[in-house]
Amino acid sequence: MSKLFEETRIGNMVLKNRFVRSATWENMATEDGHMTDKLYAVYEELAQGEVGLIVTGYANIVAEEKPNAGMMGIYDDSFIPEYQKLTDLVHQYGSKIVKQIAYGGTKTTYEVGERIIFAPSEVAELGTQTLGKAMSQADIDYIIAAFAKASLRAKQAGFDGVEIHAAHTYLIGQFLSPYYNRRDDNYGGSLDNRMRFLLEIYAATRQLVGEDFPILIKLTASEFFNGGITFDETRAVCKKLEEVGADAIVVSGNIHGKASTMVGESFDGYTLREEGYFVEYGDVISREIAIPVITVGGLTNLAAIEEIADTTNIQYFALSRPLLSEPHLVKRWKDGDDAAVECERCSKCRTKRGNFCVVNKGRKAFIASLAE
Ligand SMILES: Cc1cc2nc3c(=O)[nH]c(=O)nc-3n(C[C@H](O)[C@H](O)[C@H](O)COP(=O)(O)O)c2cc1C
Repeated sequence: MSKLFEETRIGNMVLKNRFVRSATWENMATEDGHMTDKLYAVYEELAQGEVGLIVTGYANIVAEEKPNAGMMGIYDDSFIPEYQKLTDLVHQYGSKIVKQIAYGGTKTTYEVGERIIFAPSEVAELGTQTLGKAMSQADIDYIIAAFAKASLRAKQAGFDGVEIHAAHTYLIGQFLSPYYNRRDDNYGGSLDNRMRFLLEIYAATRQLVGEDFPILIKLTASEFFNGGITFDETRAVCKKLEEVGADAIVVSGNIHGKASTMVGESFDGYTLREEGYFVEYGDVISREIAIPVITVGGLTNLAAIEEIADTTNIQYFALSRPLLSEPHLVKRWKDGDDAAVECERCSKCRTKRGNFCVVNKGRKAFIASLAE
């Protein structure tokens, strides 16, 4: 049997295959971030589709700040019963489910001006031009505690782990970045200082959830521009995360919106691939640390994924847009139909009515049929 369908574990979480649903904001939660029937249906479908590990869309950890409409929340205990229902639903099908938790920050244009948005320094986000408030020590302590408490809620609600979103120019990623982080205190300057915020979030989280609860971290391999975090720095962050006890690292890079222009280019000595954008980066990291590396981005073809599994040390394969197009893709592949996914990587899947595939006609009809 293919290595991709072997049973494996991340920490104490037993997974029935090596496929992961990458965190995907659905834009289907209520204004306050609570669950809807649409969201339950999306997760039930992914679990029926035999995804080994489902990572939820990002959830905001404090009530007053979220980077996008319709995202899930986990900022107080009122979420625990409805997430218990979600985790019970997914577990019925033998899939595992991890909650992704995030503080957005300045990579947003959503309701900007109506709230305080934290940032390491007053440096406008390159894509949105949004400026944030440079965080005080009290702000830092508040957000560290919020991550840890959100993780405890996730555990209490039956999630199999949490994924801390430290990639994609969100707040933690900005602390790691020498471009966004211009601080001259303990949290800025050297890489050790820039990773302090992430490490303190990790430590506070670990303390609350205990040793056995898997904590995954999603990182950007490189910012792919001069002055941003480099791949070598990310490698050092990964080694540190392994040392302190993180359970797995997701190696990402946030180029999915502009992959068509960047694929084939080389940055920091490695090349962005057409099939599996960050595979070269993930492979290097996976050979340097003993905890599993999950690659995400641009995976659409079963034979290509098999080859990556056979020729690198990358252990898990995460898909976002492909599973918006075909939530049953993993089951289809497992059942022997190895045709590539119907995903054009057009990234038009973000819509005001919810995030779904606008190319695959069957998906449009399914989403339209769901009750609110
Ligand atoms: C509609 C949409 C929503 C996303 N939401 C999240 C999210 O909540 N958290 C996250 O870490 N990444 C998010 N991503 C990025 C994906 O997890 C993934 O890293 C990226 O799409 C590349 O993978 P793919 O080529 O399989 O789509 C999102 C991507 C899309 C298209």
